[in-house]
Amino acid sequence: MDDKSIIKSYKRVSSFYDYTFGKVFKPGQKKLVSMMECTPTDKVLEIGIGTGTSYSYYPDETAVIGIDISPDMLDKARNHIESNRLKNKSVVMMNGEQLKFEDNSFDKVVGMYVVSVTQNPDLLIKEMKRVCKPNGDIYLVNHFSFDTDNALIKVLEKGLMPISKYLGWRPYFPFSEFNAYAKLNVQSISKINLFDYWGIIHAINSPVD
Ligand SMILES: C[S@@+](CC[C@H](N)C(=O)[O-])C[C@H]1O[C@@H](n2cnc3c(N)ncnc32)[C@H](O)[C@@H]1O
Repeated sequence: MDDKSIIKSYKRVSSFYDYTFGKVFKPGQKKLVSMMECTPTDKVLEIGIGTGTSYSYYPDETAVIGIDISPDMLDKARNHIESNRLKNKSVVMMNGEQLKFEDNSFDKVVGMYVVSVTQNPDLLIKEMKRVCKPNGDIYLVNHFSFDTDNALIKVLEKGLMPISKYLGWRPYFPFSEFNAYAKLNVQSISKINLFDYWGIIHAINSPVD
């Protein structure tokens, strides 16, 4: 999946995203934001903010910047912020693999359902770690394949890999392979959403022992 095909595929889905995928993804957004225990002074960056629906779960006082490469998804996010009069929430068009923020800028950096969509998850996670303060928090919610998952599901996911460009995401995405390069200092992993098919990962931005 290259950036152009990601932008094209989200242009296609942006008009119905909130009524379809968005509905399935809501519990994960809600649970992840509650786990973050945001304070009024926290500076938060959300990568791949999409239509901005996660913004409804953050406290008003917490400043959150959301970035995305899809102009169509960002239009929806701006509407969401305006129509719900959300405070301290903004969005900017930017590629998560090449963030235009200084090192150590944010207390918490979040990626919801984006690491299996972006072209180069290794670059995305490297950027998330770079802009997060040392010992800050990194959160992901995503579908990963875990060693303990059902073998039949993994066969189906691998079978779908040749059409991942058309699906707009990687169906088979083993967490062990991802974390071999991400090197996240994982604090917890919990399952969420329909059939517990997605996982919430919390990591501290510090080297793994
Ligand atoms: C499955 S949607 C998730 C949207 C939102 N986070 C949610 O919870 O509903 C994936 C989003 O990631 C965005 N995206 C994909 N690759 C990206 C990148 N490299 N930089 C920024 N956004 C990206 C897409 O445009 C899309 O809006």
